[in-house]
Amino acid sequence: LFPWAQFRLPTAIMPLRYELNLHPNLTSKTVRGSVTISLQALQATWNIILHSTGQNISRVTFMSAVSSQDKQVEVLEYPFHEQIAIVAPETLLEGHNYTLKIEYSANMSNSYYGFYGISYTDESNKKKYFAATQFEPLAARSVFPCFDEPAFKATFIIRIMREEQHTALSNMPKKSSVTMKDGLIQDEFFESVKMSTYLVAFIVGEMKNLTQDINGTLVSIYSVPEKIGQVHHALETTVKLFEFFQNYFEIQYPLKKLDLVAIPDFEAGAMENWGLITFQEKTLLYDNNTSSMADRKLVTKIIAHELSHQWFGNLVTMQWWDDLWLNEGLATFMEYFSLEKLFSELSSYEDFLDSQFKTMKKDSLNSSPPISLSVQSSQQIEEMFNFLSYFKGASLLLMLKTFLTEDVFQRSLVLYLHNHSYASTQNNDLWDSFNEVTNKTLDVKQMMKTWTLKKGFPLVTVQRKGMALLVQQEPFSLNTKSEIPPSDASHLWHIPLSFVAEGRNYSKYRLVSFLDKKSDVINLTEEVQWIKVNTNMSGYYIVHYADEDWDALIKQLKINPYVLSDKDRANLINNIFQLAGLGKVPLRRAFNLIGYLGNETSTAPITEALLQTGLIYDLLEKLGYMDLASRVVTRVFQLLQNQIQKQTWTDEGNTSARELRSALLEFACTHSLGNCSTVAQKLFDDWVASNGTQSLPTDVMTAVFKVGAKSETGWQFLLSKYVSIGSEAEKNKILEALASSEDVRKLHWLMKTSLSGDIIRTQELSFIIRTVGRGFSGNLLAWDFVKENWDKLVQKFHLGSYTIQNIVAGSTHLFSTKAHLSEVQAFFEKQSEATFRLRCVQEALEIIQLNIQWMEKNLETLTWWL
Ligand code: BES
Ligand code: ZN
Repeated sequence: LFPWAQFRLPTAIMPLRYELNLHPNLTSKTVRGSVTISLQALQATWNIILHSTGQNISRVTFMSAVSSQDKQVEVLEYPFHEQIAIVAPETLLEGHNYTLKIEYSANMSNSYYGFYGISYTDESNKKKYFAATQFEPLAARSVFPCFDEPAFKATFIIRIMREEQHTALSNMPKKSSVTMKDGLIQDEFFESVKMSTYLVAFIVGEMKNLTQDINGTLVSIYSVPEKIGQVHHALETTVKLFEFFQNYFEIQYPLKKLDLVAIPDFEAGAMENWGLITFQEKTLLYDNNTSSMADRKLVTKIIAHELSHQWFGNLVTMQWWDDLWLNEGLATFMEYFSLEKLFSELSSYEDFLDSQFKTMKKDSLNSSPPISLSVQSSQQIEEMFNFLSYFKGASLLLMLKTFLTEDVFQRSLVLYLHNHSYASTQNNDLWDSFNEVTNKTLDVKQMMKTWTLKKGFPLVTVQRKGMALLVQQEPFSLNTKSEIPPSDASHLWHIPLSFVAEGRNYSKYRLVSFLDKKSDVINLTEEVQWIKVNTNMSGYYIVHYADEDWDALIKQLKINPYVLSDKDRANLINNIFQLAGLGKVPLRRAFNLIGYLGNETSTAPITEALLQTGLIYDLLEKLGYMDLASRVVTRVFQLLQNQIQKQTWTDEGNTSARELRSALLEFACTHSLGNCSTVAQKLFDDWVASNGTQSLPTDVMTAVFKVGAKSETGWQFLLSKYVSIGSEAEKNKILEALASSEDVRKLHWLMKTSLSGDIIRTQELSFIIRTVGRGFSGNLLAWDFVKENWDKLVQKFHLGSYTIQNIVAGSTHLFSTKAHLSEVQAFFEKQSEATFRLRCVQEALEIIQLNIQWMEKNLETLTWWL
């Protein structure tokens, strides 16, 4: 009988050090291994319970420091919890140290999780083998028996056997290489710092690198040899960010090296393993000729994110997965914060704003949980990796930073990192550090609990009455059919309210206040023309105004939009469309508000308007209301045609202007507006005539490819280029174009081929499904594909993973009929109980319901009004 019934490991035994020897065979995809674990008993016990799955354990020996004699011992297995138990030959005594050695063999993983092997063909068409790890959150146990919970920090000595032509990398620098009798080489890496198991990593394959020394730390970018020309941008960026974080956190990076590696096939965007950060090729490599401004931003952001994890996550780790947001929210916050400081020309705040809007949309679903949430199964842990942990977490931190000032904020983070280095933390530890710095002039813990332990966010309603401002809060919920929650104190948020208004003589009037009651009255010192609440959207809430106050804002936008910041303008557009969805504001008023767009020059408000109206278009089109859908487009085109006509087909301008160009020209080409498609077709034809060698402006490349992909020959030419070129950035744009085709057979072929992984790598599949699902002919096709291949998809990406969440959402989010609702529901009900309970499944069902609800509310209005 297995002596332990719980999901969490007992705390009687603490691992201190692992010595891991691995001999992988990349061709047969098998591994032989042994791990020697030094342990300490914190309490007397007879059993050692630890994690292990998929290993064929051949021998376990046990040794106590006192007897120093090996004894072979039995091992019991409990696959359901992926645990094993070792029954010790003697009682383990409190405070004593013991050693456990486990010898085993295993298969390498066929998914992207664990220690997995891949093969690829190099430029001379030779087959090459490559192996890499991805352990977060729970896969370290599938590679070696270990105490696989983040709070069990220990040190690691790793030895890897490899073939001569390969390089082996791990978290730490290499200590020695020994050539064995059979010609294989064993690399040994230095003993690591104290760290969590999910951060252990190693890679074996043919690689080249570019290296720079930063005050004793060697920073290197690695790629497969033929792509080494694309690593310069990453190295330059890493060096700058690395120095920034060391200064900002006032803590030196503790290792002697930091490697960033582009892996030829990798599921996540990137992974922050300590000292050995792994990336997809497209998130690390940058090609001067084909990478667009959006690509440059992507690479810069992801490097910033993973570098900040070297402190938030690696040095200080969440105690358990229920506080994953401490890792991901802080890293996401630092990602954008560092970009603003170092690369302000990238205008990354525009992306952050966009992500905040998307997060709030998700957070307004009933099925969305609080960001701090108790989790007790592998699936629930996987599901913590979702948009909310990242962006709600980061948005709350931005709100706090704005409220407390940048200086207090930084001092609190520095204190937190210093107090908890090499240890693990909970939510409260972070707030305690803030309270120590603010000296409790404001109880940050009290305040932030209302945001992290509660689901959703507040809707703040404001109304001007002379010089008084009535403010009021209630939970924002899109699902109007859901019950109205009780209005007791547990449902109140502590909201930092900020305002900007226009007072006498057109002077700006700014105000900050704090709302922790249901409602309040704020006294202004003068009468104002208009008022905008939630300045620059630094707060995590939606604002609704009284009719006259909306009118005043709408009027002001028409007269002169620039008295409000671009963030404020985008924020107003977002809020009014969200409120229209809720039925709080008539849709007409939302369109009335964006009536000023002809005068808009900034990217954020325009892209937000395109997004909101695009969503309406998508729903109408999928329902077959073609005429109505095209009238929506016409209306938007009327508003934006000046800006569209002004665009050139070049890469000129600053980041913001370049991104606006991409968005506008893609919008125009997609809907064949103006002469957009004609120009794009001409550029495409020239590009084809040059056999794809003539360089295209990178920011409009996707738009050009999409137009080209509409013809049979164009599509085939793009595919042939996809297979043969070496720039991931260009391939990605081609892939998007291929998947935007309206030819059902081609779309099906793309998904099928990507699932098999031969010509199109399987890492692209969720992107392909999402792109296909957005199209008119692809919408049902994507869903049919997901249904038909569900088991294979789960095998490859595992249940609950970020990728599965993406696939489920991407193939269902544009359904808006009762028939589709029951179809999606029936399909998932037919699968396992666990599948049906997946949060992403519940979210998908809710989104379809909301789409239905939206149509019921607005279809009629749209019909007679447009
Ligand atoms: N820790 C994550 C990687 C990860 C994601 C592990 C999901 C396990 C499950 C990493 O730091 C991360 O957040 N990567 C992001 C990119 C980032 C810039 C948002 C990703 O992979 O999308
Ligand atoms: Zn992260």
